[in-house]
Amino acid sequence: MYRSRHKEDLDRRTLNFLSSIEIDDKILFYDILCSKAHVIMLYKIHILNKFEFATIVNGLDQILRNPERLVREGFEDIHEAVEAHLIGKIGVDIGGKIQTGRSRNDQIVTDIKIKARDDLISIIFHLINLIRLLLEKSEENLDSIMPLYTHLQQAQNGNLAHYLLSYSESLLRDVERLFSLYKRINQSPLGAGPIGGSLLPLDRKMTAKLLGFENIVSNTIDATSSRDFMIEFLSDISSIMITLSRCAEDLIIWSSEEFGFIEIDEKFTSTSSAMPQKKNPDPLEMIRSKTALVIGNLTSVMIILKALPSGYSRDLQDTKLSFWNSIDTVSLSLEIVTGIIASLVVNKDVMATASNASYATAFDVAEELVIRHKVPFRTAHKLVGALVAKAIQNKEEVPFKSLSNSDVKLILEKMKLSMPPAKVIHIIKDMTPQKSIANRRSEGSPNPRKQMKTIKKYRILLDNYHNQVQSKKKNIEYVQENIIAVINQIKTKANSSL
Ligand code: ARG
Repeated sequence: MYRSRHKEDLDRRTLNFLSSIEIDDKILFYDILCSKAHVIMLYKIHILNKFEFATIVNGLDQILRNPERLVREGFEDIHEAVEAHLIGKIGVDIGGKIQTGRSRNDQIVTDIKIKARDDLISIIFHLINLIRLLLEKSEENLDSIMPLYTHLQQAQNGNLAHYLLSYSESLLRDVERLFSLYKRINQSPLGAGPIGGSLLPLDRKMTAKLLGFENIVSNTIDATSSRDFMIEFLSDISSIMITLSRCAEDLIIWSSEEFGFIEIDEKFTSTSSAMPQKKNPDPLEMIRSKTALVIGNLTSVMIILKALPSGYSRDLQDTKLSFWNSIDTVSLSLEIVTGIIASLVVNKDVMATASNASYATAFDVAEELVIRHKVPFRTAHKLVGALVAKAIQNKEEVPFKSLSNSDVKLILEKMKLSMPPAKVIHIIKDMTPQKSIANRRSEGSPNPRKQMKTIKKYRILLDNYHNQVQSKKKNIEYVQENIIAVINQIKTKANSSL
């Protein structure tokens, strides 16, 4: 339809190669919303009369009512398909006016942004749900003592709540990032034209307001060719996915027979075609692989953008698939991880056994020596290290239990330390995992009292975010209602003056 200077049609295979029509259905609704705002503005600046306005709007509504009737075959994209459909239905004299003062270049990026705004809000809701659940599960697992791992080796004792709170904290930062991104997405490119604006007295601020944008992207080159909001969004999505993937990795390891700390509900596991006993955590494994794909999408978009000359180039079209794929992936991943965590069985006794059988109290013992005997930490580290080595040499089952008075005395003498062996033994025996975490003083440590305060603080924060996102959602819902109301207002006037 656009080929005015061309004498020939686009080569068929080339058309398929360059058409985005297959994925554009995702923006059909947004494209029509954008067109409605545009024609309201054209009417208000007297480029369309009331009859033309109403005819175009009715044509657009018909497409929305029966989207399956829109012919997609043979078009480069949804914009061309919609305009061709309109012209087919209402004739070129009126239908041919919809693209007055507009190019696909400002149109597509506006569509992408209006959709991105909705997607962003829905991702924030998913995040809030998951974080709420993590807080609830944290509260339930303040007493689930378990070893904390560094290098996947037992490090210090903690509780399951501590891991769950760590994911909450990280995901809360993602919520913050998305809120901050919202402002940058919510700037209207519409009215920028192909690259350099228009001779017509377009009112860019009016369409921006109608579509619920906070402002306009001022420079018309920037408006039509920049996609940094996509990089930001994809990077935020990657950050969320990386957190989910690391959580998935923990859950996979802890659900193995060797650990047995948790059990994943059957609804979220697969089996083997060969080994009937298998209960495999495939969905969690795929959270890991999808994270790779999402990072790949961010990389693809950055590479597409990095060497584009200013102004629209068709390369930009290929950013859409990566962008929308990542949005779909993160939304589904958030829902699945939420389901898995909600139905997780926690084997508190297995975790406690692991902690009780661990030398993860070693750091606490060293610190206790620093506190009680004022020894330098390095000296305490050397002493506890020697005690651990000796206890392991004794091949004992319970950590430190085998150490006799004379074992400790010998080590103290070798290190030229004047502490009484009985006191050292007392510190060691007294340092149970429960006691160790109950006595942790540092902010953010797995001391259940401190954790409970954190949980309460995050709940308030979440309620706050929930209200904020709810009000953003309301503003967007108002956009649709308002556009309908404005259209009806104009139409009623139109009828009376016809
Ligand atoms: N389908 C195109 C896209 O998705 C729309 C813009 C095409 N503009 C152009 N000048 N060829 O980016």
